[in-house]
Amino acid sequence: MKLNLKIWRQAGPNAKGQMVDYQIDGVESDMSFLEMLDLLNENLIAKGEEPIAFDHDCREGICGMCSLYINGEAHGPDKLTTTCQLHMRRFKDGDTVTIEPWRANAFPVIKDLIVDRSALDRIQQAGGYVSVNTSGRTVDANNIPIPKKDADNAFDAATCIGCGACVATCKNASAMLFVSAKVAQFAQLPQGRVEAAKRVQDMIATMDAEGFGSCTNTGACEVECPKGISLTNIAILNKEFLLAQTK
Ligand code: SF4
Ligand code: FES
Repeated sequence: MKLNLKIWRQAGPNAKGQMVDYQIDGVESDMSFLEMLDLLNENLIAKGEEPIAFDHDCREGICGMCSLYINGEAHGPDKLTTTCQLHMRRFKDGDTVTIEPWRANAFPVIKDLIVDRSALDRIQQAGGYVSVNTSGRTVDANNIPIPKKDADNAFDAATCIGCGACVATCKNASAMLFVSAKVAQFAQLPQGRVEAAKRVQDMIATMDAEGFGSCTNTGACEVECPKGISLTNIAILNKEFLLAQTK
């Protein structure tokens, strides 16, 4: 299959970027989207041109590194699918495909399609963990009974891979879905209640300091999230934040 690609090229954080046209031939329907970019880069290198910089790691939907805006949608046209799990059978011979980096003030472009998403790491470091007493008198976590529903809801929230598609999709570049997943993951388990008030306050303060926008309940984040993180988690986040004000 032949494709016309329009790809964002930007030499560095302060360089002026632009969309550049490329033609690619020999794309197989069972290639992943990233393998198609690998093929393009092999062609560019063979011609002595600079390959396109893009992020990836696990290539199996786990790490959240493959963050591309494809034809105007975060992670492309398939629902509940990361860019690395998108396959070229989704496209037709002769299609034009636009490929851009995440667009958000809090995610500055490093080069081409790679953005700096360390703002999400700093939010996580502000409270996205549980402190454990390792004195030797620690109660085994498996000895604490947890209702199945709570365990399932916490697990669903914990499937967030930190890709940032919710931020890139939101018209306000809000990180509320990401933060809500990280807060709700712990808020629904007894082990997470101990630090719940401090966690939600610290994570929201860091989110605001990093320059993310506010949530206006549009819901685009939920639609484009490759892991199906529910807006219900934002309701939990808001409740936790209000509760924390009373402590
Ligand atoms: S909430 Fe969804 S879109 Fe946002 S970072 Fe987590 S997995 Fe990615
Ligand atoms: S490369 Fe890890 S989720 Fe896509």
